[in-house]
Parts: sequence; structure tokens; C-alpha cells
Amino acid sequence: MTGVNNQQTHLMLGIETSCDETAAAVVARKPDGSGEIVSNIVSSQTALHAPYGGVVPEIAARSHLMHLDRLIEQAMSEANCEFDDLSGIAATAGPGLIGGVLTGLMTAKAIALATGKPFYGINHLEGHALTPGLTEGLRPPYLILLVSGGHTQLVSVDDVGVYTRLGTTIDDALGEAFDKTSKLLGLGYPGGPAVERAAADGKAQRFRFPVPMKGRDDCNFSFSGLKTAVRQAATAIEVLAAQDVADICAAFQRAASEAVADRVQWAMRAFQNLHPGVQTPVLVASGGVAANLVLRACLEVECAQAGFSLSVPPAALCTDNAAMIAWAGLENAVRRGPDKFSLPARARWPLDADGEPQLFAGVKA
Ligand code: KG4
Ligand code: ZN
Repeated sequence: MTGVNNQQTHLMLGIETSCDETAAAVVARKPDGSGEIVSNIVSSQTALHAPYGGVVPEIAARSHLMHLDRLIEQAMSEANCEFDDLSGIAATAGPGLIGGVLTGLMTAKAIALATGKPFYGINHLEGHALTPGLTEGLRPPYLILLVSGGHTQLVSVDDVGVYTRLGTTIDDALGEAFDKTSKLLGLGYPGGPAVERAAADGKAQRFRFPVPMKGRDDCNFSFSGLKTAVRQAATAIEVLAAQDVADICAAFQRAASEAVADRVQWAMRAFQNLHPGVQTPVLVASGGVAANLVLRACLEVECAQAGFSLSVPPAALCTDNAAMIAWAGLENAVRRGPDKFSLPARARWPLDADGEPQLFAGVKA
């Protein structure tokens, strides 16, 4: 018997601290299985990391520690809710930067222990994967493309708790490739939006960058070769003018988007083999890079050709947040009992823990 059931509305506090967002949220699950965000507080550390051109783990962990308690108080007070009203406390237990994960996880355990409420340790990727259930009531099975600064994965969400990872990156995450391109060209951090802005004035056809993994018979990604091609193109020009930067950004963005679209094509086939009975298949695009309009246009084309519909959660729920962790906590709590306080924080934690290991080294969990 679990604490959460379909007879009444349940509230869950969610905590997210695995990267550079400190977040707390309260989410409700109603008897009909639908969700509602009651409060959702996200404090971004972008300004703290900007001088370094990327997330500095120690700075991230210290900042989570400094702000988390206050953000939890704020989330609880905006939800007009006491700890007593909660059916549980859920926190990201991995994968992520270990200092940050530990901060949120230990805070959640402490609150659960002090209040006697059930505690749920959530896989951050499961939070992203289940978000469409919260935002639009989408139920599995569906296909999800997760493209962020830390992750690049294609996952078949077969059911809540049942995931088939179809592909992942063998080197850089897509957002990381955008951030490194931006840094190389002096466009600042975070790089994705800066590269997209610069690319708007560029001519993609000026450079012929490789489209990584194109045509390969699997769903994995690689961006290191593209990154090298960008560096070579940039260093071949003695003094980079604004038009050069714009053209490189446009060509990079085009090649990266085409690469993702090609990988997605393979994943759609794999998904349909796994779920031949699904009449109206859905591709969900999530993570910060899903905001990129050129990438989205490429995905629209693939979806139209393959008979999928494309669904992109609202920007605030595409990027890291605690509402998705609270919701994943609720979805888990209907199906299983709470976690023990001995549940560890994990820097790496693949979604399909029982899946086949990948065939080559370098594949990121
Ligand atoms: O999901 P997210 O907010 O955080 C994590 O990585 O966990 O994703 C951030 C990443 C960064 O690498 C950022 O450069 C990228 O998403 N990004 C974009 C765009 N907006 C954010 N990349 C390409 N185009 C964008 N418009
Ligand atoms: Zn994330």
C-alpha cells in the first residue's frame, strides 16, 4: 500500500539542485491522475558561472546550500501549504554534479525525517521524461528527445518507471557544443541563445561542416568532430568580423540540427518497432536546446514525414525545475513505496539501469 492513491488530491514538495538551478516546487496530483503546479520557484545561477564560460561545480554546490532553504520556504508559502499537508518530499538523487545533488537530497531527507513524511529520490532524467504528463496529460508510450547542457538522449518512455534508452552522446552534450562554440567565438555564456541570435544574420551555406553520425544505423550522437571543424574554420580567419561569426554560428547550428534530426529519424523507427500499436505517436522535445527554433523546424519536418506529432513543453518546464521532480515523485508514489534514507546521491544514473550496456567506450550515462 502506498501513501498516494487515486481517491484524493495529493501534494508533493519537489527539490532540484543537480546543476545550476536551485529549485523548489509544490505539485498536486488529482484523483483523475492529472497534475497541477501549485508553486514553482527556480533560481538560476547563470550570472555566477558566466565569468567562467561554464558551470563550476564547487560554486554551484555552495550556492545551492546558501539559497535552498529560503526557496523551499517560498515554494511552501506560495502554495499556502504546511509540511503536514504533503504526501511526500521528492528530490533529485542524480545524475548531476555530486555536490549539488547531495545538497538537495540531504535537505529532502532532513525534512522527511523531521516531519515523518515519505521521501522519494528521483532520477533527474525521469523528471524530464514525465513532464508531458504534467503539462498536457500525455500518457506513455511516447518518444522523448532530451537536449540540454548536460544530456543528449533519445528515450522511449514505455511506461512510468519503464524506459528504453535508444541513444545518447558518445562525447559532448548538444548544449555543451553550443556553449563551447559560443565561448570560442567570444559570444558569452550561456552559449545557445547567443549562437542562435548571431546565426540569425549568418549564411549557413558559407561553411560545409560535417553532420556527425549522419546515416549511422543507431540513435547515438557525437558533437566533438563538429566542434573541431568549427574551431578550424574560426582559426583560419585572421580577424573574425561580425559577419564571419554569424556565418560560422549559422553553419554550426544547421549541421547540429541536421544531425539531431537524422538521429531522431532512426529513433522514430526504433520506437515504432517497440510500440507497433500506437496510432498517433508523439515526439517530445525537452531540455534547454529544445528552445532553438532551427532545431525545432528540423524536428517538425521529421515528424511530418514520419507521422509523429511534435510536443515541446513550455520553456520554463523544458529547462531544469523542481515541478518535474515533484510530479515524478507523485507518479512514482502511486506505484511504489517511499525510498529509504540510505538512498545515495549519484553523479551517473542511467534511466534504463537494466538495459544493455552500450557497445563502445565514451558513452555518457
Ligand atoms: O536544460 P538546461 O536549461 O540546463 C541544463 O543543461 O541542465 O539547458 C541549458 C543548455 C545550455 O547549454 C544552453 O546553451 C542551451 O541549453 N540552450 C540553447 C538555447 N537556449 C538554451 N541552445 C541552443 N539554442 C537555444 N536557443
Ligand atoms: Zn535537466
